[in-house]
Amino acid sequence: MDAVSVASDLLGPTATEDPYALFAELREREPVCWSEAHRAWLVTRYADVAAAFQNKRLSSDRVRPMLAARATEGVPAAADEILSMMSEWMVLSDPPAHTRLRRLAAAAFRGQRIAALEGRIGELVDGFLDGFVAGGHRDLIEHVAYPLPATVIAEMLGAPPADRDRFRRWSGELGLVAFGAGGDARPDRHERALGGLREMFEYFTELAEIRRAAPTGDMLSALLGTEGPDGAALRPDELVGMCSLLLFAGHETTTNSIANGVLTLLKHPDQLARLRGHPELIPSAVEELLRIEGPIKTLVRWVVEDHELGGRTIRNGERVYLLISSANRDPDRFADPERLDLGRAPNPHIAFGRGVHACIGAQLARIEMRVALDRILGRLPELALTEDQLTWNCSLASRSLAALPVTHRAPR
Ligand code: HEM
Repeated sequence: MDAVSVASDLLGPTATEDPYALFAELREREPVCWSEAHRAWLVTRYADVAAAFQNKRLSSDRVRPMLAARATEGVPAAADEILSMMSEWMVLSDPPAHTRLRRLAAAAFRGQRIAALEGRIGELVDGFLDGFVAGGHRDLIEHVAYPLPATVIAEMLGAPPADRDRFRRWSGELGLVAFGAGGDARPDRHERALGGLREMFEYFTELAEIRRAAPTGDMLSALLGTEGPDGAALRPDELVGMCSLLLFAGHETTTNSIANGVLTLLKHPDQLARLRGHPELIPSAVEELLRIEGPIKTLVRWVVEDHELGGRTIRNGERVYLLISSANRDPDRFADPERLDLGRAPNPHIAFGRGVHACIGAQLARIEMRVALDRILGRLPELALTEDQLTWNCSLASRSLAALPVTHRAPR
């Protein structure tokens, strides 16, 4: 099989189940490879991906080119409206627009504010685990890993408890289409995502009005009160866009990182036993689990000027997929990269990206993962996988399980 046909297989059943053999082959044989199937360059080596994060000729604004392309592709009108609404997202913008939004958002993510959430996150995990055990449930995603991040972000933004189920639904609906690298082919996915996005925008618009009149200590109030470097606060549409981005960016990534982490531990009983015996390893275990089975496979960039990348000429208007989960297993950067080593140090993985767009929620995500793993392992000492076949969702963007069925006798 030549490199191009390997690349075209990235959404096939074998690669969906386990993409890492293909990644290794691409890294070895054609580390910057044009895929006709994906109409994109696939970049698989750590050094090239890390350099791409600093490369100003690779743009994060994939909304405008996608809107232009869709005009000729006959894509549903709903898709255009979704993209227009997402065009305010800082993750989809370049400096200087990005710089301004990022500085305004940073105030809401100050270290102290995030660290103070740890106790509450513990209470939430305990509550979800109580329901999981008492209800005799088996799917750790549905009952623990999925509700946790949506509830955390809903609480941070100051949404009343009764509204939290809506947060989860909106995020799930938007996940059906966002970032354009998924394999989901449900015919109604654009309409469903658009419905969720419209509701979400209305919701945050109303909530922002309430907070503007009477600020509280929540993140929404912090975002509202923030004065930027040029003295300008977020415009109302930007504020609503920021809330929807935070909900979306912080939800499924964290869900999948918890689920992938638990699965990886269950598949490596020696490392699981090591962790149970040495809970002080949890912080480094979290980094290693993010490296070896992180929740994001691919980040998308657009070429805005012809140039060389890894020895290939890439041209203005072409799309580039940065395969961060391949980079995180590159033997040129990590010794014995296919081996899970919960004490690995140093561990310069790029699961949270790098450069100006590096994940603003990384500290929060790390706390959620640490607390979730600590509580899950502590409270379910006999946690084990069931005999059920595991299903990986077909997506280039994310590495995610459809469900994580477990048994958990002798709960405390
Ligand atoms: C384990 C969980 C997470 C992972 C692996 C992750 C990963 C990433 C990555 C790779 C990027 C860079 C995107 C790019 O360069 O195009 C990013 C950006 C971002 N993340 Fe996360 N993330 C996680 C959790 C969170 C959480 C909990 C939040 C917030 C509540 C969050 C909010 C954001 C935002 C707002 C951006 C855009 C930053 C910018 O454009 O400047 N993420 N994340």
